[in-house]
Amino acid sequence: MAADVIAIDGPAASGKSTIAARIAGILGIPYINTGNMYRAVTFYALTRGVKPCRDRQTETVALLDRLILEYRRTDNGTYELFLNGEAAGAAIRTPEVTACVSQAAAMPEVRTWLLRQQRDYANLGRIVMEGRDIGTVVFPDAAYKFFLTASPEARARRRLGQAGETPADATIRSVAAEIAARDRLDSSRAAAPLRQAPDAVLIDSTELTIDQVVDIIIARVRHADH
Ligand code: C5P
Repeated sequence: MAADVIAIDGPAASGKSTIAARIAGILGIPYINTGNMYRAVTFYALTRGVKPCRDRQTETVALLDRLILEYRRTDNGTYELFLNGEAAGAAIRTPEVTACVSQAAAMPEVRTWLLRQQRDYANLGRIVMEGRDIGTVVFPDAAYKFFLTASPEARARRRLGQAGETPADATIRSVAAEIAARDRLDSSRAAAPLRQAPDAVLIDSTELTIDQVVDIIIARVRHADH
C-alpha cells in the first residue's frame, strides 16, 4: 500500500513551506518540514563551535549522539520542531544557519540519521511532508507527490519579503545568488539530491498566487480520494 503522504519537494524559496502548512490546515493533518530538521542539525553544530560548511563532517556527525529532534503537536494542533526539549523556533532559520545547511545536508550520515525519523512520521496517519527528497527517497511510494518551482527572480523576491531569513543588507541579487548556490549544492550532492520524482506533479508558481497553488494540490488530493 502507498504511504499516506502528500510529498512536496522543490528548490529553495519555491513556496513549499507556506503551501504545505496551508494544505495541512485545510485537511486537518500534520505538516512535517524536513528542511527544519537539517537546519536544526546545522544550528546545533554551530552552537557547539562546529561549522558544517567548513567540511567538519566527523565532528558534525559525532554531535548527532547528543541531539534529540522531534516534532510535537502543539495546543493549536500544528506540529513544531523541538531540539533537545526546546522549541527550535526562528533560531534555525537565520542566515548563519542557511549558509551552512546544504553542506550538513550533503553528509550521508546526517541524512541516514534523519531519514529514519522522517519515515516514522508516517505513523501519524496522513501527513504533509516537505523537503527535497521526500518523493524520491523518504517516501518513494507516497500517495501524492508534487514538485514546486518558480523562477529564480520570483523566489528571491519572495524570500526577501520573509523577515529574519536574509541578512539586513540583502538585495534581490544577493538573495538570488544565495538561493542559486544552495540549489546547486542540493542538486549535485551524491546522497539524495534535489530532484523531481518521475511521478510527481510539477507546479511552476511563478505566475500563481499561493491560493491557486493550494487549490491545485487540494483538488488533486480530493479527486484521488474519491
Ligand atoms: O527547506 P529549507 O530551505 O529550509 O531547507 C534547508 C536545506 O536543508 C536545503 O537547502 C537542503 O540542503 C536541506 N534539505 C535536504 N533535504 C530535505 C530538506 C532540506 O537536503 N528533504
